[in-house]
Amino acid sequence: MTAKALPGFRDFPPHDLALRAYIFAAWRRVATRYGFEEYDGPPLEPLDLYTSKSGDEIVGQLYNFVDKGDRPVALRPEMTPTLARMVAERANGLKKPIRWFSIPQLFRYERQQRGRLREHFQLNCDLIGEAGALADAEIIALAIDVMREFGLGAKDIRVRVSDRRALTALLQARGVTADGMYAAYQFIDKLERMSPADLERHRTTPQPYAPATADDLIAVAGLRGLSQVESAVAMLPDGAAAVAPLTETLAALDAMGLSDWIEIDFTIVRGLAYYTGTVFELFDAGKTLRAICGGGRYDTLLQSLGGVDLPALGFGMGDVVLGELLKDRGLRPEPPSAIDCFVAAVTPEDQPHVLRIAHQLRDAGIRVEYAFGQTAVGKQLKIADARGARLAVVVGPDDRATGTAQLKDLQGSTQEAVAIDALAARCHELLAG
Ligand code: HAM
Repeated sequence: MTAKALPGFRDFPPHDLALRAYIFAAWRRVATRYGFEEYDGPPLEPLDLYTSKSGDEIVGQLYNFVDKGDRPVALRPEMTPTLARMVAERANGLKKPIRWFSIPQLFRYERQQRGRLREHFQLNCDLIGEAGALADAEIIALAIDVMREFGLGAKDIRVRVSDRRALTALLQARGVTADGMYAAYQFIDKLERMSPADLERHRTTPQPYAPATADDLIAVAGLRGLSQVESAVAMLPDGAAAVAPLTETLAALDAMGLSDWIEIDFTIVRGLAYYTGTVFELFDAGKTLRAICGGGRYDTLLQSLGGVDLPALGFGMGDVVLGELLKDRGLRPEPPSAIDCFVAAVTPEDQPHVLRIAHQLRDAGIRVEYAFGQTAVGKQLKIADARGARLAVVVGPDDRATGTAQLKDLQGSTQEAVAIDALAARCHELLAG
C-alpha cells in the first residue's frame, strides 16, 4: 500500500485549490458574459460513446473497465460526446442556438509531461444549432476573452486557426482518399512533435493516405496566412466554397478588433476525429507549453450520436497549462485570506464572551476564528496575522464591565472601543473600506 497519489493525479491543498477556484471563477464570468448556461453530465459513461466517434488517440488513453453489471464503461476523457448526446436527446425542447458551458474533470491515461496529466479540468463552451461563420467567430472570441480575463494579451497568446473543409480539399487534390483522410489528419496533427527519426520511419512505411506522400502533407500543413491558403485552393474546382467560411470567420474577428491574436496555420488539424470545419488551438506565444485550448466545428456528431441534424462547435480549455502559464507570468493571484477577524480573550473569564461575539459576527457573514486554549493576547494577535485577518476583537475584564470590546484594524493599526451589539456593523464598515 502506497500513500502517494497516483501518477498524473493531483492533490489540491488550499493554496493550490485557491488557484483552481480563481481559474474557474474567471471561466464562469466570461462564459456567462456570452450568454452561456452551465450544465454537467455523468463522469462515467458507456465505453462506446468514445470508441465510436472520438478517434484512436483518445480511445488509447481511456480509463475503462467492465462494471459489476457487465457494462463496458469509461471515465470521461472529454465532454463533447456527453454534450452531443444530452442535446440530441432534448433537441426539440431547446431554443437554438444553444449556448452551454461546463467545467468537467476529465481522465486520460497520457504520458505525463509538463502541462499534461492524467486528470484535468476543462472549460467546455459549445454553441449548437448555428451553421454560419459568425458562430465560429463567437466561439474563438470567447476563448480569447478568457485569456484577456487573466491579464494575457495578443503578445502572450497565439490563436492558430485552420479549417478542415479547406484542408480536405487540398489533401484530396494531392490524392488522399476518404479512407485515408483521418490518417492524414493524424500525421499533420503530430508533425510538430515528431522527431526527425520518427518522421523518417513514417516516410519509409506504407501509409493509408497514399498515393499522397508525407511531403505532400507537409506542404499543405506549411500554408500560413489567408492569402497563401486562398491561392492554394484557387486552383481547385470547389476551392472558393472550401475557403469561404474561414474568410468570413476572420472578417468577423477583425470587426471585433481581435485579428491581432489570429494566425492562419494549416498544421492545426486537431487530433479528435469528429471535427468537420473550423479548427483552432491557443498556445503561449513562445510555444514553451502544450496547447492551452483546442476546439472546432463538429457538424455531424449530433446526427451520429443522437440522430438529430444540428451543426455545432466549441472548445475545451484545460486548467493545467493555463495554471503553469499564470505562474510563469507572475499572474497567479495571492490566495485570499482565511479569515476577516480574530476574536481574542485577555483572561480565561473572557472566553464565553469571545464565543458569543464570534458567533454573532459569523451570523453577520464575517469570517471569524478564535483560540481554543488560553494564550497571551500577543500570541493570539500573531495567529490573527498568520491567518491574514484584517481585524481583531479583544475582550478583557474592563470591556466586559462596559459591554464593549476593543476593535483593532490590523492594517491601519488603529483601535476603538465598540459596543458589542454594534460590532458586526462596524466590522463590515472597516472590511468594506
Ligand atoms: P482537446 O484538444 O483534447 O479537445 O483538449 C482541450 C484542452 O484540454 C487542451 O488544449 C488542453 O489544454 C487540455 N487537456 C487535454 N488533455 C489534457 C491532459 N492530459 N492534461 C492536461 N490538460 C489537458 C477536447 O477535449 C475537445 N472535446 C474540445 C472541444 C469542445 N471541442 C469542441 N468542443
